[in-house]
Amino acid sequence: MGADELLTTDPSRAIAALRDGHLVVLPTETVYGLGARADDVRAVARVYAVKGRPADHPLIVHLPHGAPLRPWAAGVPAYAQRLADEFWPGPLTLVLPRGGACGQHVTGGADTVALRVPDHPLTLAVLDGLAEGVAAPSANRFGRVSPTTAAHVVAELGSRLNPGRDVILDGGPCRVGVESTIVDATGAAPRLLRPGAVSDAQIAEAGGVALNRAASRVRAPGTLPSHYAPRARVHVIEVDDLARLVASCSSSETPTAGLLALAEIATPEGVVRLSAPPTVDVFAAVLYASLREADALGLDHVLAVAPRASAEGRKHGLAEAIRDRLTRAAHG
Ligand code: TXA
Ligand code: MG
Repeated sequence: MGADELLTTDPSRAIAALRDGHLVVLPTETVYGLGARADDVRAVARVYAVKGRPADHPLIVHLPHGAPLRPWAAGVPAYAQRLADEFWPGPLTLVLPRGGACGQHVTGGADTVALRVPDHPLTLAVLDGLAEGVAAPSANRFGRVSPTTAAHVVAELGSRLNPGRDVILDGGPCRVGVESTIVDATGAAPRLLRPGAVSDAQIAEAGGVALNRAASRVRAPGTLPSHYAPRARVHVIEVDDLARLVASCSSSETPTAGLLALAEIATPEGVVRLSAPPTVDVFAAVLYASLREADALGLDHVLAVAPRASAEGRKHGLAEAIRDRLTRAAHG
């Protein structure tokens, strides 16, 4: 009873559960998502209830690879189609004018819809077999850290799911580790709503249109200043500030602070090393697990040295995404 009954590695069990109106936690390349059939009003309502998510926060619809965008989106600018062709399946979400296939129960009442084709073999098999859109936010409780393993999902939502009906599809640790890049594609030029692995430079290049840097009229309510937060207090710091912060955070003999920084940065005495990723890619992949680890260890502080956006050329998108998530985790 419990977690064992929820967990499976069999996509056909997930397809059957979705068909029957139950919830399925899906692995993606970014983070795990809590999914319901997009056309199932009651199941989508349960997604909001299980997550504790406000009703006006829209969900991303995950589509089978190769599915036409037209019924989901009322209009698809040429640059948006080029982005879909280039990056799907992959960590890019396009916000488009809402089409007839998508009810407002998925979009929090908005007249736009967010679409993406995730890049994970198990979830692609589910979407293909179901031949339907699946509405899925990240599979964490509202405001908390996104899960990147099935064990994280069990810890977050296990007690809120129904064993024997709902399913957690275990696809191993998520490869990318931070949520998809979100692009507002409702205007003449793309605008960045949330940084992710696909960088703004890649969007401009593949879309063939320069990004519009003006603030978007489209609201992305989940991108609140405070989000992705562990219990421990997160401090986003530069390497030069490390010694001073270690001194101010560690008052007692037992360390109360954890360090999250690239491997090239040494661990000062008095802090717990949460992880030492050798590259920006690995930093993103271990980011959320490291924040969870800080809470599991009962630490009061996380000192995070975010890698520089220009650190590794094409890794620019991930470096920006890491800084974005850490800044939100640090807020408030
Ligand atoms: O990588 C990801 O995008 C993951 C995986 C599971 O696909 N999903 C994810 O979903 O991060 P969620 O719900 O945690 O974040 C989706 C963000 C929210 O900030 C939401 O406000 C925004 O996308 N969003 C969704 N639909 C939108 C819309 N129609 N217009 C503007 N923003 C939208
Ligand atoms: Mg989320």
